[in-house]
Amino acid sequence: MSPRRVRLRSLAKINLDLRVLHKRADGFHELRTVFQTVSLADRIEIEYTHARRTSVQLESLVQIPNNLILRAADLVLEATKRTGQLRFRLEKHIPMGGGLGGGSSNAASMLLALPVLIGKRLPLEILLDLASRLGSDVPFFLFGGTALAIGRGTELYPAPEAPSRPVVLITPEVHVSTPEAYRGLNRQAEPDQASQSLESFQALLWHKSAAGKVDYQSVRNDFETVVFAQHPQLQSMKGKLLKAGARPALMSGSGSTLFGIFRDRRKRDHAASVLRREFGEGKVKIASLVTRNRYRSLWWRQLGAHTETNTWPPQSRYLK
Ligand code: C5P
Repeated sequence: MSPRRVRLRSLAKINLDLRVLHKRADGFHELRTVFQTVSLADRIEIEYTHARRTSVQLESLVQIPNNLILRAADLVLEATKRTGQLRFRLEKHIPMGGGLGGGSSNAASMLLALPVLIGKRLPLEILLDLASRLGSDVPFFLFGGTALAIGRGTELYPAPEAPSRPVVLITPEVHVSTPEAYRGLNRQAEPDQASQSLESFQALLWHKSAAGKVDYQSVRNDFETVVFAQHPQLQSMKGKLLKAGARPALMSGSGSTLFGIFRDRRKRDHAASVLRREFGEGKVKIASLVTRNRYRSLWWRQLGAHTETNTWPPQSRYLK
């Protein structure tokens, strides 16, 4: 069999809102968050050749310990009971450890693409299970667009779509450890005052569905208090985004990336050039929000040579 190849764009995410409730019995925290895909993307090339023995090779300029691409590939081979030669080439553009879900997106990309190349069908239920074993942010990238996540962050429901607005991302060279950020919140094991703190979260989602647009007045990221206390420069970067016209400006995930959403491209581009002068070229990136329809179209396009119909998750044309 000749090798089957694909070139993928593996998109980043931001959290349009993020609330951390109590600590759960499994050690994770109970969350309410709204995930949103953005157009900033890593590039991944995959080559799969059917073979009796499995070999996996990953080429990447940056060395990533415990790379989720390899763990995801192992899980797919195991679940499909297939063997073969897999070669990956990874080009990183999403800053690592910045709250943008780059590694999680790469892992989900494997779950969507590899079964198609291998020629096996893995139902969504199985993909969701594999994804949550890889990490709390991975399942979201099986859907993209705007999604509401509850539980550990792995239980997902479609949310009213945010319109495809332009964004600025500031990625400070500050590494925030996710487990430490959770510890810093010092949440109790018992649910407390949860419903009270969630009223504004509910309001956000209901406004979104009623008006078809996002009411950004009440958005919040609970990690900001902890992370800004340790890194005050992030608070000031957020202030600069607001001053440049972003509505809202917020930290993504457990940080340290800050994002600002703008009304139009002109305002976004102007803000980006002002912020680049202040913080340096490399730290300020522009992108736009990616809706679920666009996310699916991107996937159908990039897997197009290996699929026959536009179904979700993408289905292989090599099924026997
Ligand atoms: O699932 P993931 O590997 O992304 O989680 C990294 C760490 O973040 C976990 O080990 C845990 O300390 C923390 N976490 C949490 N509650 C969540 C998600 C993550 O406490 N809902």
